[in-house]
Parts: sequence; C-alpha cells; structure tokens
Amino acid sequence: MKQAKQYVPFERVNLPDRQWPDKIITKAPIWCSVDLRDGNQALVTPMGIEEKLTFFHTLVDVGFKEIEVGFPSASETEYDILRTLIEGNHIPDDVTIQVLVQAREELIRKTFEAVRGAKNVIIHFYNSTSTLQRKVVFGKDMDGIVDIAVQGARLIRQLTEEEVARSGMNIRYEYSPESFTGTEIDFAIRICEAVMEEMGATKENPIILNLPSTVEMCTANTYADQIEYFCRNMKNREAAIISIHPHNDRGTGVASAELAVMAGADRIEGTLFGNGERTGNLDIVTVALNMFTQGVDPELDFSEILEIKKIYEACTHMHVPERQPYAGELAFTAFSGSHQDAIRKGFEYMENTGTPYWEVPYLPINPADLHREYEPVIRINSQSGKGGAAFVLQHAVGYNLPKEMHPEFGNIVKAAADEYGDELSQDQIVDLFHREYIERSGAYKLLRHRFAELHEADGSVHSRFEGSINVGEKECHIVGVGNGPIDSFFNALSHAGIEGYKFVNYHEHAVSSGSNAQGICYIELKKPNGEHIFGAGMHPNVNVAALLGIICAINRAEQ
Ligand code: KIV
Ligand code: ZN
Repeated sequence: MKQAKQYVPFERVNLPDRQWPDKIITKAPIWCSVDLRDGNQALVTPMGIEEKLTFFHTLVDVGFKEIEVGFPSASETEYDILRTLIEGNHIPDDVTIQVLVQAREELIRKTFEAVRGAKNVIIHFYNSTSTLQRKVVFGKDMDGIVDIAVQGARLIRQLTEEEVARSGMNIRYEYSPESFTGTEIDFAIRICEAVMEEMGATKENPIILNLPSTVEMCTANTYADQIEYFCRNMKNREAAIISIHPHNDRGTGVASAELAVMAGADRIEGTLFGNGERTGNLDIVTVALNMFTQGVDPELDFSEILEIKKIYEACTHMHVPERQPYAGELAFTAFSGSHQDAIRKGFEYMENTGTPYWEVPYLPINPADLHREYEPVIRINSQSGKGGAAFVLQHAVGYNLPKEMHPEFGNIVKAAADEYGDELSQDQIVDLFHREYIERSGAYKLLRHRFAELHEADGSVHSRFEGSINVGEKECHIVGVGNGPIDSFFNALSHAGIEGYKFVNYHEHAVSSGSNAQGICYIELKKPNGEHIFGAGMHPNVNVAALLGIICAINRAEQ
C-alpha cells in the first residue's frame, strides 16, 4: 500500500466550540425513504412496476410519510411508474411523494408533468457543488454553480405557482447541494441561502435543505461538525428543514446519521437495509431500531422485520447479510458458551424478577419486539458452552434440566458437535438427549413395579417397592422399603446386587408432548468411585419416571 500519499485527507471544519457531542437523540426525525429512487437506481436490475408498488406499500405500512418514488424525467419507465402510482390511487392522503430532478429546465418541466394529479409532492432538485465536480465535471466557478441552482429554483417556483392555482396541489421544495461533504462549507451555505431566497422560504413554508454525503469521505464526527456549522451559520435557519442523506462508502453511514441528528439535522433520507449506490445509503432500519433500544419511539414500525426483509429481497434481488443489525439471520444468535450462559441467565432473571426493563446480556433488543422470538437465539456448535444445550432443550421441548446436569449434557453435545464438524440443529440436540438418557438401554431394565404404603404403629408412613428388573439376561425380583417411592426402590436395588451408589438429588416437572402429559425426572447419583452421574426418565406417572431415571443413571455408570 505504498501509494497512500496520492490521497488527500479530508478537511476539518473549524468548530472548536462544537455542541453536538453533548446532545442526545430524544425524538424521531422526519424520515424519508429513498429506496425507490436512490436504492432503485443502484440495482443490477431496477424494479419493475409490480415490485415498486409492492415496495411502496411496504414503506407506507412501516409508517413512512415521505417517500422518494423516482426520477421521472430520467426515463420513460420511471415516468410510467409514477403515473401508475398516482392514477391507481396508491398514495394515501397523509403520504407525500418526492421526485428527484436535476436543476435543468426541460427535466423540471417533465417532472411537473409527471406529478399531475398527486395530492402532496416534494419537488427535490439538485446540482453538484463540490470542489472536485466544479473542476473536473462542470468547469464552472462558484458563481456559475450558484446560477444553475437559482435558475432551477426560479423555474420550479413558477411552475409550482401555476400548478397550485390550477389544481391546489400541495407542493413543497427540497434542494440538495449534491456532494455537500466535498464542498467548501461556506460555499454550501451561500448556495443554499440563494436558493431559499429565490423560493421564498419562510418559517411557515420551509424548504428542505438536504445536505448529502454523496460519497462518504470523512469520519462521522466531521460530518456532524459540518451539519452543526451549517445550522449555526446559515441565515434564516427556521425557514429550513435540515435533511441529511449519508452514503456509506466508509461503512459509517449509520454513525454519520446519528451524529448529524445530534448536530441539528431534522430529517433523514435513507433506505431499508442500506441499499443504494456503491456501498449503499444509510440503513434506516438500523438507525430507527438503535433509537428504539434507547427508549425513543422511532415512529417507524419494524416489528415485522422478517416479512419486510423478505419483500425487500424479492423486490430488489439483493440479499440482507446474516450479520446485518437487527435483520440478519444471525443478528441474535449466540454460539459462544459464555454468551449463551449469560443470555440464559438474563432470561431467567427477567422471569424471576418481573423487571419492566430489557436486561438480557448480549441482546441489545428483545427479539420478540421484532417478532423473532421463535428463532433460536442460542445455536450450538463446538464453541458452545454447558448452558447452551440446556437452553435449547428448554426452548425446544420444555425440558428444564437442573443446573448441576448442564456440564454433563453440555459435554455430550460438545463431543457430538466436534465429531459432526458443524452446527447442531435443535432437533439434533433433542435427539441426543433422548438417546443418551430417555431411551438409554443397558444391563438394567425395569420390568414390573408396585408401590404400597405401610402405615406403622407409631403413625409414620413408609413406602414399599416390589417389582422386578432385568439384570443382563436375568430377571430379578426385588423388594425395598423407604421413606418414599424413590427411596424404597433405591433400597430394593441391593437385592439385584446394585450397590455402592448414593442418591444425591432429583428434579421433576411435567412436560406435555401432544395430548399426553408426561412427567420427566432428572436423577443425580454418586457412583462408588465418588463421581457424580445423571439419569433421566419420562413417564405419565412421575414416580415411575424417577425409577427410570435411576436405572438410566446406573446403566450410564456401568456401560
Ligand atoms: O447522494 C446524493 O447526493 C443524492 C442526491 C441526488 C441527493 O442522491
Ligand atoms: Zn444518494
């Protein structure tokens, strides 16, 4: 990378008393989706009419009130799609469509033709103002560039007045000094003020000044400085809505937007999942949901994120990456053991305390808020820890393994994942548990059982177990008395020569599989060598489930 010197570092704005670092975002900005224009023009195959309509309705459902629908003077297709939107009555009364046009006479006239019949329209016009474009594209000085913008503004104002007189259309203006971030900041202010004056912007009828980071060429803090400087130094600030339009060339479009809002921007233009020219536009989903996770209502509803993603992918033929914030397939998945453990504890904490706040480590948002509660948050591979597999079991089939059993089952799953060499699915984990415990066969098998209560002369009650078990090929009749059914069975086992085990603990709970309610019992025994081992049994009668659990543990110990 020896050629780095050919690149000129970006210029900072002189703003030593910047205020934005101390600001916080407390309310939603005005959102404008540019999916159907900026996003669309960047697609390998631009959307057709059906796709644009589907996308448009999705944006309306999400709650966008301002939607840039196209560049109708750019092509017949764009023009026809806009006509279909208007003539097909697809635009709700509270939604404003925005159309983009260059500050050029014939294109402006065509644009006014294209929007006829619409109720609310933003005419968005632009010309490029950057130092580089003035030099290499237009060959014009600053005055020449201002002149293009002012001429465009004059014609738009004139055509607006004619249209309003004719139809009463509600028309607003937006002007973009394209490549704003590459423009000398005082020149950007000068050209915007000239446009404002030409259009007669007032507090009551403000113009939208859109300050695009057309190519993201500076750090997010520098963009914020530019926005704050602009807001503080422009004349007649209240007659303008300051809009931002960050692209994502440095991968910091979201950060740029957030800092720019802190710096005074009122409005954000961007796209769903950040589609757009080159590395894309700002991802509105991420900015909105970031806001949501800070307790601020973004006034856009992304609770159906998976459905929105599906529509987006179908319409654009783009793919939302697995790691995409909030929407990616793996956005809420933990593979690592320590993360899984903390997540599991977080869920337990929430349930046990009834806290009104979201307090689960590693999950910045409740997946249920995005209707993603049924996806596995914890997925298991060989990196996963002891609690992860237990969490999966609990979520998949409602088995609540005692904590002491987690390491044992975790190791079994880890070994299986190592051998398999890939992630284990939920079904595979449930299957592993069943094979290891519930369906475990071995030397011992319970054949028959009967319990009886013994009422002693002193008033105490004991349990008596009588039954038979297989020991290898041989059937053994066994009898035992104890404090309860488990104790009596455990004592009876010595008749079959099973000795040296100590009963440590058991847990039981009901599980329903289909219409059958079953009891599941987890047994912890101490083996003759002092190690602990677990068994599990499942049966409609929970006492029998416990006996099966004991047999399972001994079979596992003696295999
Ligand atoms: O990125 C950009 O500068 C644009 C303008 C046309 C607003 O898309
Ligand atoms: Zn753009």
